[in-house]
Amino acid sequence: MIGGHTGFFYEVGRYLPPHYRVREAADFWELAGCARLRRQVFCLEQRIFQGDDRDDIDRIATTLAAVSTLGGMADDIVGTVRIHECAAGHWMGSRLAVAGDHRRAGGIGTHLIRLAVCLAHARGATQFTAFVQSANATLFEALHWRTLDTLLLHGHPHHHMQADLAHYPAAGAHELQVLVPMRAAA
Ligand SMILES: CC(C)(COP(=O)(O)OP(=O)(O)OC[C@H]1O[C@@H](n2cnc3c(N)ncnc32)[C@H](O)[C@@H]1OP(=O)(O)O)[C@@H](O)C(=O)NCCC(=O)NCCS
Repeated sequence: MIGGHTGFFYEVGRYLPPHYRVREAADFWELAGCARLRRQVFCLEQRIFQGDDRDDIDRIATTLAAVSTLGGMADDIVGTVRIHECAAGHWMGSRLAVAGDHRRAGGIGTHLIRLAVCLAHARGATQFTAFVQSANATLFEALHWRTLDTLLLHGHPHHHMQADLAHYPAAGAHELQVLVPMRAAA
């Protein structure tokens, strides 16, 4: 439902652009937007970190961004994830976040995960793992990840999970389009 009458007022639902782009963040505004979104989600919303969630991995990681569009042009950063090689051939993903208004909007988180693993595969990954917040393990399982272990990280339950690279081809790992399905007005 994107809107509805409640008495005198007409409630307008959230605006969702018809498509998003998921790609490596390259420009300053994209990287700054990813950092801002991470602070919003991991410091303010989830309170996992205080004030700043950056760490040493950011010095070597590749950051991916989900960019919303307005009139076909890039508009805002609404999703992010980072990948890095932690040992020869072993890549990891972390700090996956989608802005609250854009969650479950049509697959932004899914496409961030897909591009992250495909890009690492293209760069030589032979294994790809992540520490996934346990609340999200089902989402990853549906995307061909399996659980290696469960543990507490930063005081929160996590699943240590591994992607099945057979489902993440290296070819064509560059940019993904997320097309939002049309929604019927109530
Ligand atoms: C987890 C997160 C990145 C998912 O992003 P998203 O853009 O909402 O995910 P998608 O739209 O791609 O979801 C794909 C499917 O998984 C489902 N899904 C999403 N989150 C889920 C969850 N936590 N558990 C089970 N299913 C989930 C969606 O309903 C959707 O199903 P559908 O295709 O049948 O509608 C987002 O909820 C988020 O940023 N959460 C806060 C930050 C966080 O927890 N980050 C840590 C990730 S380990």
